[in-house]
Amino acid sequence: MAFITRYNNAWDRHYKGYAMRTLHCSFFKLSIVLLAGGIILSGCSEPSAPLPVTIAEPGPIPATAQRPGDPDAGYTTLVNRGYVSCGIPYSAFRASSGDVPVLHPLPGRQGRNAELPHTLNATTNADGVELVVSNCLSCHAAKFDGELVIGLGNAFMDFTEDAAIGAELIGAWVEDGPEATAWAKWADRIGAIAPYMRTDTVGVNPAPNLTLALMAHRDPETLAWYNEPQMEPPPTDPLPTKVPPWWRMQHKHAMFYNAMGRGDHTRYMMMKALVCTDDLDEAREIAAWFDDVRAYIARLPPPAYPYPIDHDLAEQGREVFERTCSDCHGTYGAARHYPNELVALDKIGTDPAYAQQAVEAERFARWFNQSFYGQGAEARPGLGYVAPPLDGVWATAPYLHNASVPSIAVLLNSPQRPTYWRWTAERRYDPETLGWTYERLDAGQQAADGPEEARQIYDTTRYGYGNQGHTAGDKLSEDERRAVLEYLKTL
Ligand code: HEC
Ligand code: HEC
Repeated sequence: MAFITRYNNAWDRHYKGYAMRTLHCSFFKLSIVLLAGGIILSGCSEPSAPLPVTIAEPGPIPATAQRPGDPDAGYTTLVNRGYVSCGIPYSAFRASSGDVPVLHPLPGRQGRNAELPHTLNATTNADGVELVVSNCLSCHAAKFDGELVIGLGNAFMDFTEDAAIGAELIGAWVEDGPEATAWAKWADRIGAIAPYMRTDTVGVNPAPNLTLALMAHRDPETLAWYNEPQMEPPPTDPLPTKVPPWWRMQHKHAMFYNAMGRGDHTRYMMMKALVCTDDLDEAREIAAWFDDVRAYIARLPPPAYPYPIDHDLAEQGREVFERTCSDCHGTYGAARHYPNELVALDKIGTDPAYAQQAVEAERFARWFNQSFYGQGAEARPGLGYVAPPLDGVWATAPYLHNASVPSIAVLLNSPQRPTYWRWTAERRYDPETLGWTYERLDAGQQAADGPEEARQIYDTTRYGYGNQGHTAGDKLSEDERRAVLEYLKTL
């Protein structure tokens, strides 16, 4: 109830403010018209009228030229700079976490960065407070057989806890003065968005919903932060998403599962920083760094399959693939062709909630298009999903945009997909199925095992979690399917 009242007040204020600005402006214009004897002068900038949002049609997605950048400088930025400009004071981080070991030392880490886990960067704020801030690799780097692979989506993150509690607890280690101010900024932001990033299932990622919550708290034109949402926030129950691998970006014309990220890709890639970016000067600085980050991401190759491949079988698989899959996913090798196809929901048949929500909640696309981020870029949601390039796809379980299918073997055999499943305790990569080892569960098991265990179970009967659709593999014989799986190892 308290929340609804708070939100209604904020809504009221926003629209009252909008109405007052419009009134003031018309009055001003009218006065000029009267004074100037009928000559219309445009002496007042209109509050930008909400622009209509274009809904993308299914079909090929056109290419847009990207701004050039230096990939090596992009990597240096990614692992050293404070593009996420707020976080935990360094002293409080050390006091609360002790000497956390650096399990995966990254090359090129400078200064304090070299002492931090790979998911964190060090930076110093305008008050001279040293901060530990998150970087992109918490979600966009993951272990494959013990090795950290940059660009591989992390499929095992846990967003089921209340992030606000952790942020508050750190406060106990923060000194008064500039450190406390720095921590409070970060803790306030996390507190405001925590309800929108809390999932019920371990392993699914709430990043899109979290970004929408940040938009709701910011003025699109100035990026100023408000503790109260300025427009209707997204639902508090985030739709599940998989973190896609970065190496697809060298082939993709648009970003995101529904291809809504058109135009300049840097403007989307820098949005993770939106938790802290409070003004246009800071946004411009990050945008300049991100030309290089985009160039780095667009150069990142997929990893090579690390186990033996039966090349004769893979060659048979290529023929089946080119007959059955290439219309949507393209061809690979020397005569590479990738169609960049947005496939309509009714054609692909996978869970529609993600694509539908983006079209229905067009206020967020409007926010984006009106904002700094929409300069040279356009959010254009469509009712469909992109058929992704399949390079390195063997490494990227679980499958589909909502992470609902645990292996490619069952993706290509839809009656075999588990309705309830969880990863096994010792998670092993399975070269037969192209996924991590998992177990199927009965419908009753979730309730019987209690809430702790329930968090580990992917329940495909929930809204947005459906595992239906993408039935192209069903028509294949067992032998053909095995051959296609072998072929996918070569990509
Ligand atoms: C909290 C987890 C998280 C963090 C942190 C994060 N991302 Fe992502 N990223 C995602 C998810 C989930 C998606 C898929 C979103 C979608 O398609 O709606 C994604 C999508 C992307 C894509 C698009 C890939 C494609 O195939 O369309 C790129 C590129 C990307 N992120 C870059 C970055 C960069 C650069 C950073 C750091 C500045 C970053 N991300 C931080 C979770 C994250
Ligand atoms: C009608 C177009 C179409 C055909 C034909 C098709 N796919 Fe797909 N495929 C898609 C789309 C669209 C997605 C993304 C769906 C989603 O995420 O909801 C996808 C997703 C996938 C994924 C999951 C990618 C990931 O990382 O989650 C794999 C693997 C895949 N397809 C393999 C194949 C294979 C192998 C064939 C042939 C047997 C095939 N597809 C045929 C359109 C198609």
